[in-house]
Amino acid sequence: MGHSGTIARAIVRGVPDSYQQATANYFGSGPTDVSEARRQHSAYVATLRDFGVAVTELDTDEECPDCIFVEDLAVIYNGRALLTRPGLASRRGEMQPVAEALGAALELVPMEAPATLDGGDVLRVGNCFVVGLSTRTNPAGTQALRDFVAPMPVHEIVIPDDQLHLKSICTSPDEGVLLGPEHTLLDGTLESVAEVIRVPATETYGCNVIAFGNELLVAAGYPATHAILEQRGFQLHPLEMSQIRAADGSLTCLSVFY
Ligand code: GLY
Repeated sequence: MGHSGTIARAIVRGVPDSYQQATANYFGSGPTDVSEARRQHSAYVATLRDFGVAVTELDTDEECPDCIFVEDLAVIYNGRALLTRPGLASRRGEMQPVAEALGAALELVPMEAPATLDGGDVLRVGNCFVVGLSTRTNPAGTQALRDFVAPMPVHEIVIPDDQLHLKSICTSPDEGVLLGPEHTLLDGTLESVAEVIRVPATETYGCNVIAFGNELLVAAGYPATHAILEQRGFQLHPLEMSQIRAADGSLTCLSVFY
């Protein structure tokens, strides 16, 4: 994401009072501190702005406890936005303001049932996409992605049922490079599209990064991963993510970049 420092714009959405009801079925233990979640979210937004990103902050929605995780609602490619059908039906009410904001700049392409896809399962890697088949993204969803980005190649990879999204496990810190844990996504798909840096399984959460050229936004608290990345010459910007992680959220989940 944004390797050459070219992330121009982002949509984010504020933390609702109802955030304690956000879904937490995977690595999160459930959010407990809405004020701290807001502090962490604000620091994240400020950091994006420090990197020159023009950030649009959408009003929060108390009816949608997961509404901060806007990444899942759209895939951006070539001046268009694929508006997803999130795999969790309870999250489909989050779409309208995100679609309105994207529609001011991009052509909108709706996804039709029975397709489901979360943007967290979609990773651009050079001249192809990798998409996770997960509990949220089904084969009709991956086909809708193929149709949307054609003729760009799309590689599918099966996400274990105990993991949420592809990007919960693996992101791209640099052109031609992926970052993933040592214990999963081992079927060769990742290696067929990029060099894969593997980190200890205990630090899987640390594999979600956002790149601005050589500088990476990373979650604080993953020392082995940070050491590996620093050895590779990256400059790291750690962000506290505990109350975002508590709702199964990672750094990339908090933005639609376009
Ligand atoms: N809590 C984010 C999600 O489950 O989609």
